[in-house]
Amino acid sequence: MPSQIVSLVVNGERREFIAAPGATLLACLRESLGLIAAKRGCAQGACGTCTVLVEGRPEASCLVPVETVAGASVRTLEGVTAGGELDEVQSAFIDCFATQCGFCTSGMIMVAEALLERNPDPSEDDVIEAVSGNVCRCTGYRPIVIAIMEAARRRRERAVPR
Ligand code: FES
Ligand code: FES
Repeated sequence: MPSQIVSLVVNGERREFIAAPGATLLACLRESLGLIAAKRGCAQGACGTCTVLVEGRPEASCLVPVETVAGASVRTLEGVTAGGELDEVQSAFIDCFATQCGFCTSGMIMVAEALLERNPDPSEDDVIEAVSGNVCRCTGYRPIVIAIMEAARRRRERAVPR
């Protein structure tokens, strides 16, 4: 099978690139588009470090053949930071000491973004369930859960008209 031109809407911008046969979404984001926030951990769908949002849903990009999502909207951590401003999730991760080595952080933040999009007032159990597919090899789970709860609180507070 020859290489093909694939088009995606990445962080709101249409991007076209040449994809080798069988190339994963993760490989294309990192190697063709230079978006390296999503990390290659297990490459087997088991660690969540490669999580990006496809049409708003968290996906393990290491498992997604890029041609199967041609034309889709993809959001990566780079898109969360658009404009140079940290959002509530990112700033809460910093303030709550939820990053250690940082290898899992991109995937954790993308899962949190998807959760807060569909549920602005999650319970702690909701947060724990949302991150259950993401491994933190530094075992910093407690601060990560606290950070996501704090991000939800900040986002709700910001949404209240003053
Ligand atoms: S690198 Fe994709 S789930 Fe581990
Ligand atoms: S902060 Fe190191 S893997 Fe999670």
